[in-house]
Amino acid sequence: MSTRIPATLIAGDGIGPEIVDATLAVLDALAAPFEWDRQIAGLAGVQQAGDPLPAATLDSIRRTRLALKGPLETPSGGGYRSSNVRLREAFKLFANLRPARTIVPGGRFDNIDLVVVRENLEGLYIGHEHYVQIDDDPHAVAMATGLNTRAGCRRIIDFAFQHAIRLGRKKVTIVHKANIMKALTGIFKETAEQLYEQKYKGQIVMETVIIDACAMKLVLDPWQFDVLVTTNLFGDILSDLVAGLVGGLGMAPGANIGADAAIFEAVHGSAPDIAGQGKANPTALLLAAAMMLDHVQRADLGDRLRRAIHDTLNIDQVRTGDLGGRAGTRAYTQALVARVKG
Ligand code: NAI
Repeated sequence: MSTRIPATLIAGDGIGPEIVDATLAVLDALAAPFEWDRQIAGLAGVQQAGDPLPAATLDSIRRTRLALKGPLETPSGGGYRSSNVRLREAFKLFANLRPARTIVPGGRFDNIDLVVVRENLEGLYIGHEHYVQIDDDPHAVAMATGLNTRAGCRRIIDFAFQHAIRLGRKKVTIVHKANIMKALTGIFKETAEQLYEQKYKGQIVMETVIIDACAMKLVLDPWQFDVLVTTNLFGDILSDLVAGLVGGLGMAPGANIGADAAIFEAVHGSAPDIAGQGKANPTALLLAAAMMLDHVQRADLGDRLRRAIHDTLNIDQVRTGDLGGRAGTRAYTQALVARVKG
């Protein structure tokens, strides 16, 4: 029997508790080695502890350095700052890893197998924004500052190359907009080209592509890509785009990896429109849990989990409503547990 691995569990808001329960049931069936420390954040944090990211939650992740997290609600415009962004900053989660792989065949795009690596801490997401008042309009001008550092670019690009080589991938595509944002994203392209020459040439192919052309190519011919690495805002958009190629957000997992911790989550949000109705698809969070198993060197269990998901969806044909099926969260989870055990 392997030793237990302490990990923080945040159920999250909206459908979070439903998909986390489903994920735990499947992980239990798999005898996954995690010892959970349950904590709160997001709206649940505000309601129960007066803080969307309570100190106890931060302390727990500081201790375990590992977390599985349901979606957290963030108010748009005003209100509190995103707990997700604060978690990234607190634990220097510089890499956001979003694999997109076809699980249910027969969609608009088949046999997709891509990874988007998004820089998670810099770029236009640093939150340096303000308005300038002109006459009586306090919002007459809106300004945002972007920031990319040489060290930050090097860290994420290095991570992407390492990850690609470890997985036996063939190509890394550097996505930028250096023709227009010559400094802000020029530094990203320049750093990639230097690092490639110094460290990776001959081991793997590197290409560079401008973000707008990349978006078009991903829709016309996604199979030409393998691993894509890009700055924060472009990565945010591209990772949703590639999720769309494989059946939408309900199927997309994500990992936030840093020097101090790794946090695994579904890419989708808290889906307040279906919360509490027993309809949510837990697959994205389950795939995130599979990534977490890979991360703790239990890829054997991660692979078993991915296989069980594949077989439940394709052989048993048990699917939730968002995938055109009729199963609720519970029936789908039971089918998965049966697959894991069988
Ligand atoms: P959303 O992803 O929650 O929902 C978009 C649509 O997809 C909805 O129709 C929803 O019902 C559906 N959907 C999402 N996940 C599903 C699932 N697992 N099964 C079945 N259907 C699913 O995006 P939305 O509505 O823009 O955001 C809601 C809240 O979630 C906001 O407060 C937002 O800030 C937060 N959010 C949190 C994220 C996180 O914690 N990582 C990521 C994205 C949004």
